Amino acid sequence: MSDLNQPQVQEQEQEQLPPDLKGRLRDSYNAIAPLYNMWSLAYQGYRMRYTCKLLEFMRKFKQQRHQSPKEHAFIKPTDDGTGYEYKAPNPEHLKGMNALEVGCGSGIPVAEILLAKDMTYFGVDLSVTQINTALQNFQYQTDHLQASWLVGDMMDLSFPPGAMDVIIGFYSLIHLPREEQQVFLKRAWGWLRPGGMLMINFGREELVSEVSENWLGHEKGWMFWSNWGEDTTMEILEGLGDGDEEGDGGGEGDGGKAEVLLKEITEADGEDPAFVWVIVRKSGGLEPRARHFEFPAE
Ligand SMILES: C[S@@+](CC[C@H](N)C(=O)[O-])C[C@H]1O[C@@H](n2cnc3c(N)ncnc32)[C@H](O)[C@@H]1O
Repeated sequence: MSDLNQPQVQEQEQEQLPPDLKGRLRDSYNAIAPLYNMWSLAYQGYRMRYTCKLLEFMRKFKQQRHQSPKEHAFIKPTDDGTGYEYKAPNPEHLKGMNALEVGCGSGIPVAEILLAKDMTYFGVDLSVTQINTALQNFQYQTDHLQASWLVGDMMDLSFPPGAMDVIIGFYSLIHLPREEQQVFLKRAWGWLRPGGMLMINFGREELVSEVSENWLGHEKGWMFWSNWGEDTTMEILEGLGDGDEEGDGGGEGDGGKAEVLLKEITEADGEDPAFVWVIVRKSGGLEPRARHFEFPAE
C-alpha cells in the first residue's frame, strides 16, 4: 500500500475524477441540504443505532479502565409503597470527552446524541447551509462552548495528536476521492488518543467514481461518491496502527493497534447501496486524555 500520508492519486483514477470536485459538492449540498436532511430522516435509525453502540463501547472501556463501581439507574417502589424512587445514572459519565464529526450535516442525529451525553462536540462540514442549520439546531450548546462548528473540507483539518476521544464520519468519507479517504483515515488515527474510537460507514462495493447529475431528484443535486469497498477498507482500517511499534502517540498516524470492535452491514434498500458500519478502537489507555486546543487547530 502507498504512503498513506501523501495523497498519491493514480493517474488513471485522477482522470476519472470530476473537475472542481469539492466546489461542486459544496454548492450541491448548499442547495439540497434541506431536502437531504428531510429525506435522510428515514434512515436515521441506522445512525442512531451505531452512535448508541459507540456509547456502549465507550462506557464499557471506561468502566474497565477505571474499575469504577457500576452505577445503574433504577426505578422501584418506595418502601412505604406510596410512590416510586428513581436513581439516575451518573450524569458525569462521558462529560468532557471530545468528539469530532466530519461531514456532520445538520448534526442530527449524531451531535444530538453525543451532546446529550455531555460530550464536547466539533462538527465540520463543507456546506455552509448545513452548518447554519446545525447552529440553529444546537444554539444553546454552541453558546455554551459545548459544540463548535466549522465550514470546510475535512482534508484541511489538523489537530494535535491524541486530541479526540471519538471521530465519526457517517455517509461523508464516501464523498472523498478514495485516495483521500485513505489519507484522512490515517490522519484521524493520529488525532485519536490511545483508547479512542473511530466510527465510519462506507459503501460495501468498490467504486472508483460515481456521479449523479440530479441526486434526490434535485436539479442542483450534482453528486459524487467513491469507495474502496468492504475488503480494502477493512484492510486500511485494520492497518491504521501499523508502523509504530512503540505506540507512543507522539505523531500523526501512530500510537496503538487498531482493534475492530464492530462491523455490520446494512443491506441495499431501494436506490441506497449496502453500507458497512465499523467501530475501530486504538489500543492503549484512556488517560491522560486530550489536551486543550483551539478549533480549528493549527
Ligand atoms: C450524505 S451527507 C451526510 C450528513 C450527515 N453525516 C448525516 O449522516 O446525515 C454528506 C455530508 O458531508 C459533507 N461533505 C462532503 N464532502 C466533505 C468534505 N470533504 N469535508 C467536509 N464535509 C464534507 C456534505 O456537505 C454533507 O453535509
